[in-house]
This record gives sequence, structure tokens and C-alpha cells, in this order.
Amino acid sequence: MDRHRIAAAFLMAGSAAASAQSGWVTVGESAYTQLREHGQRMTIRANRPVRSTDLGTTENVYLLEVPARDIDRIAGTLHRGLRHCGGFMLHASEAEARKALDAEAIRVAPRTTRPAYVLANQALVTPLLAQMDAQRITQSITELAGFTNRYYKSAHGAAVSDWLSANWAALGAQHPALSVAQFAHAGYAQRSVIATIAGSDLAQQVLVLGAHLDSINLANRAEAAVAPGADDDGSGIAGLTEVLRVLANSHYRPRRTIKLIAYAAEEVGLRGAQDIAGQFRKDQVDVAGVLQLDMTNYKGSAQDMVLIADYTDRAQNAFLEQLIAAYLPTLTVGRDRCGYACSDHAAWHVLGYATSLPFEAALGDDNPHIHTARDTYANSGSQAAHALKFARLAAAWAVELGTDAP
Ligand code: BES
Ligand code: ZN
Repeated sequence: MDRHRIAAAFLMAGSAAASAQSGWVTVGESAYTQLREHGQRMTIRANRPVRSTDLGTTENVYLLEVPARDIDRIAGTLHRGLRHCGGFMLHASEAEARKALDAEAIRVAPRTTRPAYVLANQALVTPLLAQMDAQRITQSITELAGFTNRYYKSAHGAAVSDWLSANWAALGAQHPALSVAQFAHAGYAQRSVIATIAGSDLAQQVLVLGAHLDSINLANRAEAAVAPGADDDGSGIAGLTEVLRVLANSHYRPRRTIKLIAYAAEEVGLRGAQDIAGQFRKDQVDVAGVLQLDMTNYKGSAQDMVLIADYTDRAQNAFLEQLIAAYLPTLTVGRDRCGYACSDHAAWHVLGYATSLPFEAALGDDNPHIHTARDTYANSGSQAAHALKFARLAAAWAVELGTDAP
């Protein structure tokens, strides 16, 4: 009997009986350890080594059955305890959780196009990057942070989805190939927002540029709680908005379809992204690449950008380095790992899609104010110069892969 089975047997004894009142979560090794230390009642239903593609390392992932009423507290424990190691995913049922685990473990990769990752569109990209503007990003961050909170269950959280949807639709109004839609989720009112620029001859291949719309104040989840989420993840949504603005203004028509996605309910277990990635997988959409912007405006390290190496794709990460060398040559780049499924890209990664997460700092040097009322624009230094670097990288990624080689 291995160590985990002993632990499972031990935990079974103290666990709630399986019932409709159960919740299913998948967690990494360190989160699991933390829950154990907190005396969380839980039953291990499965335990599997999962590959971390870029680094080639593996991590144990546990499928846990827990009392449903404990889920908010578990989220709180993981966020509070070891912020950088506390990730978890919440699943709708045990079957769904097993599917998520199996998708990675049995390596049923979806049939997707792997781009050639060549730079061939400088004439298009360079002028677009020149039009991108830190002041516009500041404006978006400030507007997003102006909502009392963007919590997935609050009325503010639902309202900000409608606001962003209208904002993106207005930016795209003059572009005939651009459309905006909201994606509804079961169990809460906040909808994800998806802007689509229809591709031409390679339209069935899709590029996903994402960030999360929701915010959270871990100390207060009430309707009126203050959770500005200026950096986490106002910075990412503001970056997407600036990419959309310049693509729309230039009437850019990609060959591949480009989707900008503002995910609902990231802070509570990547719930919005899991729904969307799951739907795409089910519809057998050929997703040629996924890029996530989550926390881009707090410059805590000497390096400008840190490419997260776990739950991401090695070849696409190397392509980001090419893009940086060509278009943002003054930037310095480092590598680090989250150690767990730390943002929406992971929901795509576990289904077999190529993802990347360029991050604001090395882990530990990142914004210390996230998940509190203090995650404000002022606490990112009242600037958007840092976020602009990531928005430019995202635009270069979208247009180079959107157009690809002639
Ligand atoms: N933006 C954070 C992730 C993050 C924080 C990455 C700090 C690197 C450094 C994200 O919004 C988040 O808080 N994620 C949760 C996990 C999620 C599965 C609930 C976390 O980190 O606890
Ligand atoms: Zn967060």
C-alpha cells in the first residue's frame, strides 16, 4: 500500500458519506498537503501523476470528495495558506472531475493544428504595436476597479459582464468580421464575454486570448465587499481590450479565427474557463493556441516578464521568446512555475491545448495586494507601462499566429 492509499484509507474513516451534498475538487500535491494540515474532511477518489508539459516534470493531482458546504472554506484555506501553491479546480460531479483528470493522464490529445511558429508579419504587427497606449490601459483598469467588486456571485459581477460586453461591441462596431457574445454558466449569474474576429481561409482554426473578469476579496465575499482586482485581473482584461481596440480600428482580418475571452469565475476554481474549454473540446474545435494574461501590471522583479513553465506548452513559450526578441527587444525575460493550476490557461492545458502565461514577476515578487481591497491601480504604482508590454506581446502573438506564413 503506497503512502497515498494509506492516507486515503485514513481519510475515508473521517469523511462524510457520499451524497448529493458532496463537492468534487482536484488539487495538486501542495494544496492537498495543506488541506490535510487544516484537518479538512475529504476522501481521495483518485490520485494521478499529471504531466507539466513545458518542464517535463510531473505532479500528483488528487481528486477529492468533500462536503459541498466546505467548498468556500477550502477555497479560502488554499488562497490564504500558500497563495502560490494552493490551486484547486471545482467540478460539477465526480464524473466530470474524473474526466478532467483522465484527459491529462491518458493523454488523449485533441486534434489541433500546431502552428509553424515563424515570424512573417512584421509589416502588420509593428504599426499595430505603435498604436497601443498605456493611457488606454489605465482607463480600462480604472473602470474595472470602479465596480465595487467583480465577484462571480454578486450583482456587480454580473453587471461588469454586461458592461464589458457593451464596451467590446462598441470597439468592434466598425469591423464587419468582429462580433461579441456572452457565455452563460450554470449556478451563477456572471457570464463570460467572448469577442470573435472571424478568420478567412483558416477560420476553423481558433486562437484564444484570455484573461479573467472576476475578482475576489478573500476576507469578505458579501455583496458589498470591496474587491477592485486592478491587477488581478483588471490588468489582463484591460490588455485584451487594448488589443481589441487596435485590431478593430485597423480592420484586421486574420486567416485563423481569433477569440478574446473574459472568463467568469476564475477565482473560485477556474469555473468559467472549464465550461468554455470543455465546450470547445466537445465541439472538437481546432484550438491552435491559448494565451492567458493574468496579473501584468505590478513590476516586482528585475525581469520584465516571467514565462510560466508549468501547465503551458514548451514550443509556444519558445515562440513568445521569439516574439519578444523581434518586437519588444529591450525586455528581459525569465522563467518560473506556478506549481499548480493557477489560472484559466490550465483548464485548456489539461484538455491538451497549447497554452502560455506570461506573468508580471517571478513568483514571490508578484503583487502582494491581490485578493484584498488593496488591489488598486495606485498599488501597482499608478502606471500601466508594465501591462502595456504584455498587451503588445499578446497583439503580436495574435497577429503572427492569426496570419501565419503566406
Ligand atoms: N492571478 C491568480 C494566480 C496567481 C497569483 C498566479 C499569484 C501567480 C501568482 C489567480 O487569479 C488566482 O488567484 N488563482 C487561484 C487558483 C484558482 C484555481 C482558484 C490561486 O492562486 O489561489
Ligand atoms: Zn486571484
